[in-house]
Amino acid sequence: MAILVTGISELITCDPTLEGADHSEGLGLLRDAAIVVGAQYEDAPTTVHWVGPANRAPEADWAIDLGGKAVLPGFVDSHSHLVFAGDRSAEFAARMTGTPYDGGGIATTMEATRTADDSTLRTLIGARVEEMRRQGTTTVEIKSGYGLTVEDEVRALRLAGEVTEETTYLGGHVVPPEHRGDRSAYVDLVAGDMLTAAAPHAKWIDVFCEPASPHAFTGEEARHILTAGRAAGLGLRVHGNQLDHGPGVQLAVELGAASVDHCTFLSDEDLAALADGDTVATLLPGVEFSTRSPYPDGRRLIDAGVQVALATDCNPGTCYSSSMPLMMALAVREMGMTPAEAVRAATVVAATSLAREDIGVVRHGALAELAVLDAPSYLHIPYRVGVPIAHTLQV
Ligand code: NIG
Ligand code: FE
Repeated sequence: MAILVTGISELITCDPTLEGADHSEGLGLLRDAAIVVGAQYEDAPTTVHWVGPANRAPEADWAIDLGGKAVLPGFVDSHSHLVFAGDRSAEFAARMTGTPYDGGGIATTMEATRTADDSTLRTLIGARVEEMRRQGTTTVEIKSGYGLTVEDEVRALRLAGEVTEETTYLGGHVVPPEHRGDRSAYVDLVAGDMLTAAAPHAKWIDVFCEPASPHAFTGEEARHILTAGRAAGLGLRVHGNQLDHGPGVQLAVELGAASVDHCTFLSDEDLAALADGDTVATLLPGVEFSTRSPYPDGRRLIDAGVQVALATDCNPGTCYSSSMPLMMALAVREMGMTPAEAVRAATVVAATSLAREDIGVVRHGALAELAVLDAPSYLHIPYRVGVPIAHTLQV
């Protein structure tokens, strides 16, 4: 069945080939637009069949009139840690009065997560994904990383895999307390038996490469873990340069990681490496908000030719926000990005960081996963900060 959607005051396609669209800011923007979506057969995914001006829309089986709203590709949240139990609001409150973040609280969440049963975790994950959908997010990447035993990491990935195909093995999150006396044995476990058990449940491998944290991993430890992950068939992602200048960014580029995330502290050499490589820099401004760190300079990265994505990093420690519109608003207000750059970062560039071409764009053949605003233009995302105007368009 084909459904015609009209009443679109402004359609953001992120499709550079769309005829008649405004491509000046890379949004493939069409005013007074219409789209036709549908599934080829029962149970097939709903895809986009046609995109164009409303006055040239074809016939369809069914029609929806949005009455003058902006429509965008659904937001792609390419970095989250949704598999957790417990709460660290007291840690957040302490940070607001000056206690710095060093990753030590991850062990608290690990304890709470290990002791939660499957059904409790499933309920928590489902509620968090639903919270994201209500704010326009249609794809979410979910990491393990609060289990840190073979069984608990596999369980986290299995539960994440029930709600997304973008699952990431993060056994290399921190060294858990029971391994503090023998770091290298834990690194070998992460790159060995734990990886073997996790790989069938994961698309990606990630590591918290941060020598500035006593809990996280050095450049050489991260290299060992990532190289093993690649040999096991996983794509690479890296948590890098969050707390200080470190080796994470250059390691990610050297190994051809799809994304290096945080990028809060970047040297000129880090910037040059990103500009020369294919690795997406995924900025997580909710973390800077929630840890009182300086915001990364998105303007500097984009001007250097780096592909910049935005994600929430939704997790109980450094950012317990699921709101992609908030991340876009922070990018515009605090990181020198234009509203158009923020939208691209939250859609098509984030999709690139997940090696996906079927999401993050509105064009023929792409998945019909769309966001709609209670507003006439995408400019309202940062303009109406904190107001829940973004939703998922259900068709
Ligand atoms: O992306 N930096 C490492 N990991 C998470 C935080 C996890 C936590 O504190 O629970 C992050 O910021
Ligand atoms: Fe993270």
